[in-house]
Parts: sequence; structure tokens; C-alpha cells
Amino acid sequence: MRIGVLTGGGDCPGLNAVIRAVVRKGVSTYGHDFVGFRDGWRGPLEGLTMPLGIPEVRGILPRGGTILGSSRTNPFKIENGVEQIKSNLGAMGVDALVAIGGEDTLGVATKLFDLGVQVVGVPKTIDNDLNATDYTFGFDTAVNIAMEAIDRLHTTAESHHRTLVVEVMGRHAGWIALHAGLAGGANVILLPERNFDVEQVAGYVEKRFQHQYAPIVVVAEGAQPLDGQMVLHNQELDSFGHVRLGGIGQWLAEQLEAKTGKEARTVVLGHIQRGGTPTAFDRVLATRLGLHAIDAVNDGDWGKMVALQGTDVVRVPLVEATRELKTVPLERYTEAEVFFGS
Ligand code: F6P
Repeated sequence: MRIGVLTGGGDCPGLNAVIRAVVRKGVSTYGHDFVGFRDGWRGPLEGLTMPLGIPEVRGILPRGGTILGSSRTNPFKIENGVEQIKSNLGAMGVDALVAIGGEDTLGVATKLFDLGVQVVGVPKTIDNDLNATDYTFGFDTAVNIAMEAIDRLHTTAESHHRTLVVEVMGRHAGWIALHAGLAGGANVILLPERNFDVEQVAGYVEKRFQHQYAPIVVVAEGAQPLDGQMVLHNQELDSFGHVRLGGIGQWLAEQLEAKTGKEARTVVLGHIQRGGTPTAFDRVLATRLGLHAIDAVNDGDWGKMVALQGTDVVRVPLVEATRELKTVPLERYTEAEVFFGS
């Protein structure tokens, strides 16, 4: 078989480990041939390719980002986009696709599968918000980066008796905030899953100062105050209809400073959370998902996504992955509340 591989959406650490595993096993165990599609769905749409064999995947296991490039191109938003993809795949003799992506990329894969394209999906996102898989690779790395930042911020916050508000990514799911906040010993953690009361947050902050410590507030970029609108920098939508999040940290720091009379500063971790080398956990998960994805391709098990359930990698229908977002259950959040303000 000739198999196309693409990575779409926001990049994350571990993408290269998947590509490497797919190609290594695909060539050495099954004798398949590969073509790399560049920049997500733009690759098959515009016929942008690169060679993808064992030499191209040597040495990429620890490398962040994706050697294939990525984009948020949505072929369903482009006139004749789907026909263009099908005709390009046919012309290039590509029998099947391995699509590595999150909600949007796999949403496109699901629809293309319904239209007859032979595709297998691999879940990725630092946000950990994909349904049907317990974890996505990239998440552990992002959490570790945020945790290290929080550790560092504790010492400077305490030296200057300041509140430090740390804004983390995660879109509409609070997984990164919850795990980084717990691991880093944050004083308050605010998630998109539960609107927060700014008066209560100010109360937690004051209590922490009374104990002679300085508070670290971890806020997810998608968190919202009780009666307010989500605070956005930019109202533009991407081709999948998503707004660009960000800005809640700055807004919150200003509110906390005004309410507590103590200086409050903001750190927005942003794309640092997505860059650089993957953790061992993410390298292993990405590698295992890649190995199982090429098995599914070899079996002709189209329309499936490989997923981590417990410690096993299983195959689930692609549609399961994107049916709904996997957000933080309330009971997981209340577990963390015991540390708030103390
Ligand atoms: O989905 C991953 C993610 O990093 C989100 O956490 C964040 O909201 C978004 O992508 C940012 O996307 P971009 O890099 O396109 O601005």
C-alpha cells in the first residue's frame, strides 16, 4: 500500500514520534510505502508532499513540532475541497491516510471516511480534551512545562509578596490547568468547566497572604467569571469556527490587585507549553499509538482511531473521538479545592 501521513491543527510534542513509529513499522514489518503530506489537510488538498521513508524519520523521536508541518485548513470550507483531495490521492496512487490530529483534524477525517476515503486517525492535543481516549500525547509535556514555571514563580512571588496569575492553554477544557495547578501547588485553580466568583478568588488570595505566603493562581485560558463574558483578545474565528482565547489572566490580575491591594502580575505561558522535546510518557504513548495505527491500516480497519484506554491501545470509531469534548468532571475539580486559599 501507499500511505499518506499528515499532522493537522496545533502542533504538540510527540507528533514526530508517531510519524516515526508509523513509518518504521509500516516499512519494516509490512513493506508499505509512504508519502508525507505537508501542513495538515492543505497537503492532500494542494498536493503538497515530501518524501517519507526510514531515512526521513531517523533521529526525530525527541524532536518537538512536526517534520510534516501543520495548519488549521478545513477542506470542507473550501469549494470542491473534498473532490480535490480525492482526485489528488488518486493521481498520487495513495491508498490510505493516517491523520494525526485533534478535534478538528479528526472531524475532517470522520467526514472523509463517510465519503469513501480510507483513513485511520491518531489523537493528539496538549488539551487532552478528546473523547474515547484516556490521555493524548502532548498533554504530559505541557503539564510538566507549566509545573516547572509554577515552581519558579513561587519563589519570586514570595520574595516580593505578590500575587502571580499564571494563564495556561487548554481551550475549553481545564485539564492542563488542573494538573499543572495540582502538581505545582497552586493556591487557586480556575477552569472553563466552572465559572468563578472573583470575590471568592480574592478571598483565597488574601488568606494566603495572611499565612505569610504569596499566592499562585492558575487560570485556564477558557475560564470565565460568574457573570461576565469570556475575555478575548481577538474575536476572529479560524476555519473551524474557534475563537482565539487569551486575556483572562491579565483581567484577573487587575481585579485581584484592586480587590486585595496587593500587587498582582500575570504570566501567560502560551506556546511554550507546546514547544520542545516530549516527556518520556508522551514519547511512549505517541510511539505506541503510531504502531497500532499502522496495524489498523494494514488490517484495512478504516474509520477508526487508536486510543489509550487504561494501559491498552484500542481501536474506536473515529466518530467517537469527536462526538463531544472530554472536559474535567466536577468531582475532579472539587478534589483540588481543599488546597484553595490554604
Ligand atoms: O489546541 C491546542 C491549543 O494550544 C489550545 O490550547 C490553544 O487554545 C490553541 O491551540 C492555540 O492555537 P494557535 O496556536 O493556533 O493560536
